Order: sequence, then C-alpha cells, then structure tokens
Amino acid sequence: MSLLTIRDLHITYGAGPTAVPAVRGVDLTVDPGRKLGIAGESGCGKSTLALAMLRLLPATARLSGEILLDGEDVLTMKWGRLRAVRWAGASIVFQGAMHSLNAVHRVGDQIAEPLLVHRQASAAAARKRVGALLEQVGLPPSRASAYPHELSGGQRQRVMIAMALACDPRLIVADEPTTALDVMIQAQILRLLERLVTEQDISLVMISHDLAVLADTCDRLAVMYAGRIVEEGPARDVYDAARHPYGRALSAAFPRIGDPASRLAPRGLPGDPPDPAALPPGCTFHPRCPSALETCRSEDPPLVQAAPGHRAACVLTPGSPA
Ligand SMILES: Nc1ncnc2c1ncn2[C@@H]1O[C@H](COP(=O)(O)OP(=O)(O)OP(=O)(O)O)[C@@H](O)[C@H]1O
Ligand SMILES: [Mg+2]
Repeated sequence: MSLLTIRDLHITYGAGPTAVPAVRGVDLTVDPGRKLGIAGESGCGKSTLALAMLRLLPATARLSGEILLDGEDVLTMKWGRLRAVRWAGASIVFQGAMHSLNAVHRVGDQIAEPLLVHRQASAAAARKRVGALLEQVGLPPSRASAYPHELSGGQRQRVMIAMALACDPRLIVADEPTTALDVMIQAQILRLLERLVTEQDISLVMISHDLAVLADTCDRLAVMYAGRIVEEGPARDVYDAARHPYGRALSAAFPRIGDPASRLAPRGLPGDPPDPAALPPGCTFHPRCPSALETCRSEDPPLVQAAPGHRAACVLTPGSPA
C-alpha cells in the first residue's frame, strides 16, 4: 500500500468572486521509502499542497478530496491524532529556517520538544537523542546550546532536518528546503537530507522550482502548473524526456542544479503562470505553449498515461481524448 495517497484534492483560499483556486484536482501517491519531487514556477500551488499534507493550511483554505497517510485521512482526523501524526507520521522542513525556529530558545531545546511532548521522553533521554540527531545532521552535539542567530543559514537548516527526524517520521515533506542558501550549501543540505531519508527508509516529498535538483534527488517527479499536476513519472524520464510542453520548458530552463538566475524567470519560457483567480479557458498553459493547437483554447486535457508509469495532461499526449 502507498504511504501517501492524495485523491482529487481541491484547495481554494477564500470564497466568492475573490476566491483563489490554488490546487485543482490533484491525484498523487508516494510509496514507502520513495522520494517524490514536485516542481513548478512560483504560485503554482506547491506549498499549498505541501501544507495540506500535514493539515497546516490557514482557516481561510477550503479543501475537498482525500489525503491518506498510511490509509488514514489527514483531513478528517481528530486533533489529538493529528498532533501525534504530525511528528511521528509526517514532518515538514520549510525554506526559511530562521522563521520556523524560535529565536529565544536554544536549538537543542527546540529539537527536544517533540520528544518530550509526543514521545514522553525523560529529559535525560531527550538530551541524548538531541546529541545523536545533531551528529546525524553533521553538527557537533555542543551546538545544542546555541540560539538560532548564532548559527549559519546552512546550520539552521540542518537543525530543521534534525527536528523533522526527531520522532522517526515515515514521511518528510521538504518545501524548498535550500532556496535561501548559496548553491554550494544547497547541494550539501540536499545530499544530507537524501542520505538520511534513504538510510532511515523515510519517504520524502521534496518541493522545488528547480527540476534539475529534483531529478538528482528523487525517484519520481510531478510538475505542477496553475494548481494541477500536468506531468508525473520516473524522475529521469520527466527531466530528460518530458511529455508535457511545460515539463520540457522547465527541464530546459534548469540545465544546472540550483541556478539562481532561473528561479524567477525560467530561461526560454516567456510570460508568467496565470493568476489562479483568473485562469484562461481550455488548457491553462496554452497562452505560453509553443505547441498549442486551436483545441487547446477550449479543452483542458486530463492527466492520462503517456508511457508506462508516466502521465501527462496535454492533447499531444498519445491516448489523450482530444
Ligand atoms: N494564505 C493564502 N491566502 C490566499 N491566497 C494564497 C494563500 N497562500 C497562497 N495563496 C495563493 O495560492 C496560490 C498558490 O500559492 P503557493 O504558495 O501554494 O504557490 P507555490 O507554488 O508554493 O509558489 P512559490 O514557488 O512562490 O513558493 C498563489 O496564487 C498564492 O497567491
Ligand atoms: Mg511555495
């Protein structure tokens, strides 16, 4: 059975004429111990999807569909169960570690907190585990007594990973865990995260705008555009032989891992993703698509099998109804 199964997930911020449909009918699965990358330009709904996996969205978000973690629906879980699941079932690593860590508490105490609360660990056992976790992420255990501002960006991100590992989760969701860091440190942190999840048989959902980074670290890749998955398949196939014109544009835009210039304006891809509150009719990518046909202005193609284990939502995909 899949560890994570997302079925027909829709997420809308707000209501009425100003409603923002940020996620529109996402279906995804992650098998135990596997790594799924989710790519897409800014505003495509990646963080909204990631936050939903741990039910961390603001109250203005309305959701429908299912998010099953080990068969249990995260969206309908009772609060007590959800709190337990958030650490031992699935945990999250965010981009801005400075904002996610509490500035007035020592990092060791912050790593220890979930152990004390969710594992009922004794203070001595928690201290020992914190030292071991810091060593796993490549920091000396003595750094437990540091405050976040005393650490570098890369060290803070290592602390975030230690926190995410604290209660032995089955799934880690990493939302652009390295974007704020310089390219060398990014590569180190990603390699560390990848090594730790592989060694500990943890599933990973890794989010990035950068397809090259994901192709290097994940088994499978999903490409999001305007709130939908437009392509999903084996990571190398999606990166080397994308079936959707948007997937092809993204892989061409990120020839090099962590190229910061590509972040805001992927090379060779004119224009911007649409405003989710004012989506174009038909395929939402058609205004930017070099291969667009007349039918793309009115038909929004479903995600269909383009090759074994590889799906794409494009009228040019063999098997697509249009
Ligand atoms: N709390 C919110 N209230 C209203 N709209 C929101 C909220 N959070 C996100 N949105 C909107 O939802 C859409 C998707 O945003 P999201 O943050 O999921 O995108 P993203 O793919 O993570 O982008 P980025 O690469 O910039 O992180 C955007 O149009 C965004 O403006
Ligand atoms: Mg985001």
